[in-house]
Amino acid sequence: AKKVLSGIQPSGSLTLGNYIGAIKNFVKLQKEYECFFMVVDLHAITVAQDPAALRENSESVAALYLAAGIDPAISHVYMQSHVPQHAELGWILTTLTAMGELERMTQFKDKSAGKESVGAGLFVYPSLMAADILVYNADLVPVGEDQKQHLELTRDLAGRFNHRFGDFFTIPEPYIPEVGARIMSLDDGTKKMSKSDPNAGSRIGLLDPPDVIRKKISRATTDSGREVVFDPANKPEISNLMSIYAECSGMSLQQIADKYEGQMYGGFKKELGEVVVALLEPLQQRYHEIRSSGMLGDILAQGAESARNNAARTLEGVKERMGFLPYR
Ligand code: AQP
Repeated sequence: AKKVLSGIQPSGSLTLGNYIGAIKNFVKLQKEYECFFMVVDLHAITVAQDPAALRENSESVAALYLAAGIDPAISHVYMQSHVPQHAELGWILTTLTAMGELERMTQFKDKSAGKESVGAGLFVYPSLMAADILVYNADLVPVGEDQKQHLELTRDLAGRFNHRFGDFFTIPEPYIPEVGARIMSLDDGTKKMSKSDPNAGSRIGLLDPPDVIRKKISRATTDSGREVVFDPANKPEISNLMSIYAECSGMSLQQIADKYEGQMYGGFKKELGEVVVALLEPLQQRYHEIRSSGMLGDILAQGAESARNNAARTLEGVKERMGFLPYR
């Protein structure tokens, strides 16, 4: 089977955007491909993380993967830092990366804009992401718009290595999921919903209690109109709420527009709250069962072991080709 790799940063508590844009899709992908789903803790620390929060968020992301239906019996589920080959290949690829290539990355420009001091880790992050992918010779990488440029660099680095040291790496392809909407912030329909947004009211947390979810949706910003129609250019907020409705219920946007024709935002929002709660309540229940079962540690250990076996073989080949002496 082709190999798919993806990950989520434990840089906060996950949002409904992370579920709709990533996890929901992971659950489908594992049926068709050999999947590597990591919690990318080494990436999270490119921005300062409090140790206690990092620990909690790391466990929480891993448990949410499982609660959402990622099956550790068929997918590799693990912490990025439990596979040291990521950092090792990351360093090697950094030496093959030009400063100019990293300077051109729009995500770096966005994340560093206006900051007084910017960590070097944020700058070289794309080389580590390339290592994440190449260390397993992944064929497919699910990427959103904001990661396309990084995947392009990964492909360049793989090609550069192959050219200099002999054909070795698989050149990965982007995998663009058919659906999977980009979910926007509840207080600004032009900004994406984000786990690290300072305003908790701007996002629906996957672990928010049902009443909090209902309240956040009822308070979500909407335009001054009254029609429930999908029109992202002119009505970004209501369109976003409709996308959330569609993703959580399985209904189409048209079916939703028909259902709420002639009704006002209040009633629509109230029912949207129930739709989201109906999706998240059982997920939260499984999540709490997993956290209290004490089995997470073993699952992550198993996932890391199988990932390390894959990664170690790649590293050996890389180092041999580059002229490193083998271990004795
Ligand atoms: N709003 C969103 N809509 C759809 N998909 C989303 N993803 C994130 N936000 C949305 C997808 O979730 C995965 C998580 O990626 P990440 O942890 O590397 O960080 P991110 O993309 O930067 O996500 P956040 O939640 O905004 O985190 P912070 O605030 O830490 O930067 C990716 O697959 C992403 O596409």
